[in-house]
Amino acid sequence: MRKVIWITGASSGFGLAAALKLLRETDHIICVSARRESLLDTLVKKGAYAYPLDITDYEEIFRTKEKIENEAGEVDALMVNAGYGMYGTFEEVPNEAMIRQFEVNVFGAVETIRSVLPSMRKRSSGRIVITSSSAAHVSSAGMGYYAASKHSIKALGTALRQEIGPHGIEVVMIEPGIVRTPFGETALKNNYIDTEKGPYASLMKTFKSFMLKSFDRAPSVSHTRDIMVKALTDDRVKSVYRTTSSSLGLSLLSKLLPASIYDFVIREGVKKLR
Ligand SMILES: NC(=O)c1ccc[n+]([C@@H]2O[C@H](COP(=O)([O-])OP(=O)(O)OC[C@H]3O[C@@H](n4cnc5c(N)ncnc54)[C@H](OP(=O)(O)O)[C@@H]3O)[C@@H](O)[C@H]2O)c1
Repeated sequence: MRKVIWITGASSGFGLAAALKLLRETDHIICVSARRESLLDTLVKKGAYAYPLDITDYEEIFRTKEKIENEAGEVDALMVNAGYGMYGTFEEVPNEAMIRQFEVNVFGAVETIRSVLPSMRKRSSGRIVITSSSAAHVSSAGMGYYAASKHSIKALGTALRQEIGPHGIEVVMIEPGIVRTPFGETALKNNYIDTEKGPYASLMKTFKSFMLKSFDRAPSVSHTRDIMVKALTDDRVKSVYRTTSSSLGLSLLSKLLPASIYDFVIREGVKKLR
């Protein structure tokens, strides 16, 4: 069956890669969103419908959903993928940056899902794919707010899965560890990492150099992209996909280790790789 698939955060990274693969290899109708309209043009040229959108404009999300329904049809599968990483310490990240992290990664995803749920419920069919992260399971010094946003999306997605399953709608969570996309560049260029002075300067220096090395050594998007496409299109899917070995390992560590040993392992791991 030809599906209408809507992907947010499609101007770059995972969203772009998944949209390109879908356009190349399937005849599904692909609708793409992001703020940078010019970057969506590549996808339009390959047959996608583009809907420029800032995910924090919650009213615009609902208008976008209407436009998609009028032009492409009712959404069969939605991938909420738009998001970014904001690193910095608990104490030093300013209030507005903390709020913005949740406005994009959590509230934007929630409102996008809520925009399609009524129509999916009426049809007793549909699929919601959420780009979560290994950071939905683990947190560490320097990335508390990003991890909190992904812990939140995991909690909300789990509740949604149980609430909406009986209505014929599936929820799939994709949990990559670190993967080489422009995500790293965005996360590492923010102002709260380069604290040259102050109580956390040395910690954040170590954290930055660890993250730089990690992104450098990270796998390419291809495996996670393939899992995303599978999650959007296959008849039978799992509820959760951990798409990198770091994601598998970290989620296991967080479950098995007592907190003090977990802290030690993470601290030493960061020091070793920096
Ligand atoms: N790469 C990793 O290591 C990794 C690991 C685990 C999870 N993730 C998650 O994967 C998702 C995609 O990230 P990525 O790695 O593909 O990074 P990316 O290449 O930076 O892509 C992020 C996408 O989100 C969009 N976006 C950001 N803010 C937005 C806003 N306010 N409104 C609308 N769209 C917005 C961006 O588009 P515009 O800037 O054009 O709006 C872009 O298309 C994120 O949710 C991220 O948390 C990434």
